[in-house]
Amino acid sequence: MSAQKIQIFDTTLRDGEQVPGCKLNMDEKLVIARQLELLGVNVIEAGFPVSSPGDFEAVRAIAAQTKEATVCGLTRAVENDIRVAAEALKTARYPRIHTGIGTSESHVKFKLRTTQADVIERAVAAVKLAKSFVEDVEFYAEDAGRTDNEFLAMVCEAVIKAGATVLNIPDTTGYCLPEEYGAKIKYLYENVRGVQNVTLSTHCHNDLGLATANSIAGAINGARQIECTINGVGERAGNTALEEVVMILRQHPYLNLDTSVNTRLLTETSHLVSHMMRMQVQPNKAIVGANAFAHSSGIHQDGVIKHRETYEIIDPKEVGAEDSSIVLTARSGRAALAYRMQKLGYALEKAALDKAYAAFLEVADKKKEVVDEDLHLMVEQDNLVSAN
Ligand code: KIV
Ligand code: ZN
Repeated sequence: MSAQKIQIFDTTLRDGEQVPGCKLNMDEKLVIARQLELLGVNVIEAGFPVSSPGDFEAVRAIAAQTKEATVCGLTRAVENDIRVAAEALKTARYPRIHTGIGTSESHVKFKLRTTQADVIERAVAAVKLAKSFVEDVEFYAEDAGRTDNEFLAMVCEAVIKAGATVLNIPDTTGYCLPEEYGAKIKYLYENVRGVQNVTLSTHCHNDLGLATANSIAGAINGARQIECTINGVGERAGNTALEEVVMILRQHPYLNLDTSVNTRLLTETSHLVSHMMRMQVQPNKAIVGANAFAHSSGIHQDGVIKHRETYEIIDPKEVGAEDSSIVLTARSGRAALAYRMQKLGYALEKAALDKAYAAFLEVADKKKEVVDEDLHLMVEQDNLVSAN
């Protein structure tokens, strides 16, 4: 049975770009949008057109250059936002308007200072207006993660009737536990009339480090679109990391869920976004961090040298990374030293290796990492090759 497709909705250029200090210029946005299309994402959220003339122009230019992916513009449930987004998306081959409103008690009471009935009315009006411009209308129920399920279901049912094609259920504050978020999607799937005719979407923030887990729980429970960003960039602790959800689904084929992302482009896309946003990727970041395929402890190094899969669940080539690396530190053993020496052309036999290892430990205790230059020096100083 072929796997069911999960649509990847990339919001690096909208939610991701909200990070302080990471603003992109027009050329950078166009380059990233082109790379996202190459990567194989299904939807590119290009910006929030009403927010500034620059964002409007960026959405317009991305809409004009994009051939295969849907191009999406964000709006509030506000008439002018929707008209401006429709204008910006005019040249898109596959345009989508993403409109919505807060639905949690705190949003209704304190942000919107209105009633639940009014929220439903505004949501329906927004979707109807968006629908008068484009066929594809996505509705977001902001702070759905903290919204009472019964009210959320009422909102969802009303916007489906008004013409929404995708329902986004954001965990805006990154509050939910995976079980809770998965159960929310399941509840909507089972209790909203007409839900079979639309796509349920996850949009999880990472305030508790659970964005990826929540997105996967959503997909397991019926969501068929995941909203995410490259490197997990985004407000506060960020959004769901695209590379993580894509590789989780790829690594667990029994879930029978997959994406159309070309995983071999993940690393270069990560580097591009990191460079253009001037935002470093943490070295221990899953999939794309500099240490994601680096092994430094003796036990692990010995295992990986004997058989890569002992300590690696992903072949680095599958995500376009360089080969696994064996990093030499004071925690490394003889196997790692022999392996790295061999890579430099020194095949050391037992006596030479013992001698080299003693010399190596002396150097390693003084340094964070022993590099090739140190190894060459050791060979020369200790006559290791002639002792061989
Ligand atoms: O986190 C959120 O709720 C959002 C919406 C605007 C979709 O980004
Ligand atoms: Zn968000």
